Parts: sequence; structure tokens; C-alpha cells
Amino acid sequence: MATYLGFCVLVTMLKLAIAFANTPDTFNESACGEISVGFGTYQDICPEAEPIIFSWVEKAVAEDPRMAASLLRLHFHDCFVNGCDASVLLDDTQNFVGEKTAAPNLNSLRGFEVIDAIKSELESVCPQTISCADILATVARDSVVLSGGPAWEVQKGRRDSLSASKAAANNNIPSPNSTVATLVAKFENVGLALNDMVALSGAHSIGKARCPTFSARLQGTNQNGPDNNLDFVASLQQLCSGSDSNSALAHLDLVTPATFDNQYYINLLSGQGLLPSDQVLVGGGEQTREIVETYAEDPFVFFEDFKISMLKMGSLGVLTRSNGEIRKNCRTTN
Ligand code: HEM
Ligand SMILES: *[C@@H]1O[C@H](CO)[C@@H](O)[C@H](O)[C@H]1NC(C)=O
Repeated sequence: MATYLGFCVLVTMLKLAIAFANTPDTFNESACGEISVGFGTYQDICPEAEPIIFSWVEKAVAEDPRMAASLLRLHFHDCFVNGCDASVLLDDTQNFVGEKTAAPNLNSLRGFEVIDAIKSELESVCPQTISCADILATVARDSVVLSGGPAWEVQKGRRDSLSASKAAANNNIPSPNSTVATLVAKFENVGLALNDMVALSGAHSIGKARCPTFSARLQGTNQNGPDNNLDFVASLQQLCSGSDSNSALAHLDLVTPATFDNQYYINLLSGQGLLPSDQVLVGGGEQTREIVETYAEDPFVFFEDFKISMLKMGSLGVLTRSNGEIRKNCRTTN
């Protein structure tokens, strides 16, 4: 144990030296095990983890391209409910009702099986080392990368919650009918700003939504007067007029539906945002509209801002050190 501790100190000092000499890299405090589990990388404790996670995401997305979007969304719905602690993955127990049946999640969240498969392999390679919350954060990044979006270093060391909150999921995750003021309030409530909200909404560059989530778009009017793209509205009315209107799906980005790019913002400027909460970023005020215009013009600015905001979202309310646990199975506490 003494040797192990000594090694830890050495590693930490080395990393500090490297960090000061070069660009500030993420520290690997986790190399020191239980004593100082922090927010770092897996390079020393389980170098296989990231490649294993990536290959599972790659396989899942190859089988079903929409899975990239679904996995990205899981991380968002996790972090907005008492922090990025994998609470979203817990099934109901006798002690609490889980988040899976909350209104924003029910019949909507997908990808739990992919997380299970990853967790199962990681438990055999590095038992009780990689938390479910870290898996969600890593899988979100990998999904963006596999869809053509930017890459970033995912911070590690989150631990998993011992509980979940359906009430907080209902309260914290914004509704697609929200005004800009409500969207801003819901993001500020968890510690994110207006600019994070506009950048993170760019996740709607991939994936799909069910008709009931954008029914308010079908009227041809919005909070700010008549819609400026009645052809688009007509195509949505057509899609959602069938007998299966509760399950019919529209692409969140009708132009490049499976590519993570800035087309989402370009669509908003021509009135082709799918959700009311998308289109309102242009019609609902100058502050958000100006950011939309910037991202529509320059994909690199969007990518840079998206990375920063994903790191910010991924660090919300994380459990470290002796808080929480590393679950063996993401659906249940140990
Ligand atoms: C700004 C507030 C937001 C609102 C109101 C919102 C709302 C929604 C709704 C209603 C859907 C469709 C769900 C369904 O039909 O079942 C959806 C899908 C999606 N959301 Fe958001 N969202 C927001 C922000 C975000 C953020 C911050 C992310 C990730 C960083 C995200 C990622 C996604 C993705 C990728 C999909 C597609 C999922 C799939 O195809 O399975 N959203 N969102
Ligand atoms: C949004 O508002 C419309 C009415 O305009 C309503 O029918 C729909 O159920 C609301 N959707 C959500 C998700 O709250």
C-alpha cells in the first residue's frame, strides 16, 4: 500500500510538472484510488475503457444511426437532474420511483441497452472502476464524434447516485413549449447560462422527435405571430395527420438529419426549427437570435462553444471521493 501511495504521489507530481510545462491537461487524481478520487482520466487505472466504450457506440450507431442522438440525449437528461450521476439509468425500486417514467423521458429516452452492454464489459475488464455517469459522458462525446461533430477530452471520476428523482426530472428538464425566458431559467437553475443553452440546443442537429412534442408548431402561428415558413409547417401537418400521429417521427434537422453540424442553426433562420423551443431561439429575442446567426455563419465557432458547454454540463453536480458509488449494474444501486 505504501509503495502504491508513493507511486501515486510520483504520478501526480509528474503530471503537475507536465501540466505546467505544456498545455493544462486533465489530471489523473484517480490513479491514487479511493484516497483521492478526483476528476481526471482513465489512462492509468483502466486504459482499455475509452476504446471499449467507443467500439460499442460505433457498433450501436452502425446498426441504428439514430442511436448517436439518443445516447447524447441521455447525458443531458442525466446531468439536469441532480447532476451527472447516472440517476437517469436507475429502474424503480421500493424506495423511489426512477426518472424513466418522468414526462420528458417516458416513451422517449432510448439507448439503455447500449449502456448495459458497455457496463457489462467494463465490469469484466476493470471491475468497479468506471462509473455509469462517466460512461454516459463518454458515450455522449463518442456519439457526437461518430456523427461528424467535434471531439473533446471527457473528464472522468464521476460516481453514481444512490437514488433518483422523478419529480426533479419533471421539474428540471425543459418542455419543448418553453419560451426563451423559461429555457434560460431552466438552464440557470442547474448552473448553465443563456449562451450554453443556445450552443447545447445544437445537439438537435441529430435525432428525431415525436409529433406530440412539436404539436404547437402545427398551427402556423407562434408566440411571436405568423410562422415564416408555412411550407415547412404544412409538411409537419401532413406527417402528423395520420393515425399513428403519436409515434410518427420528424428529423430535428431536416437537411442533414444524421450529421452533427451547424445546419440546425441555418434551419432556424429559415423557420425550419422543429420544436417550438428550437424556433423560439430566433423569434423569441435578440440575445438568442444573435448567437444563432453566429453559429449559422461559422461552424467552427459553434463546435468550439459546443465543446465548452458540454464540458460545463458534464461537470454539473458530480459525485466524487466518498460520495455515491461505482455501480456494478447501471440500473440498480449496489
Ligand atoms: C433547450 C432545451 C431542450 C428541449 C426543450 C429539448 C426537447 C427535446 C424533445 C421534446 C425531443 C424529442 C423527444 C421525443 O420526441 O421523444 C428532443 C430530442 C433530442 N434532444 Fe433535446 N431538448 C433540449 C435540449 C437538448 C440538449 C441540451 C441536448 C444535448 C446536449 C439535447 C439532445 C437531444 C437529442 C440528441 C434528441 C434526439 C434524440 C433521439 O433521436 O432519440 N436536447 N429534445
Ligand atoms: C405544447 O402545447 C400544445 C398546444 O399548443 C399542446 O397540445 C402540447 O401537448 C404541448 N406539448 C408539451 C410537450 O407540453
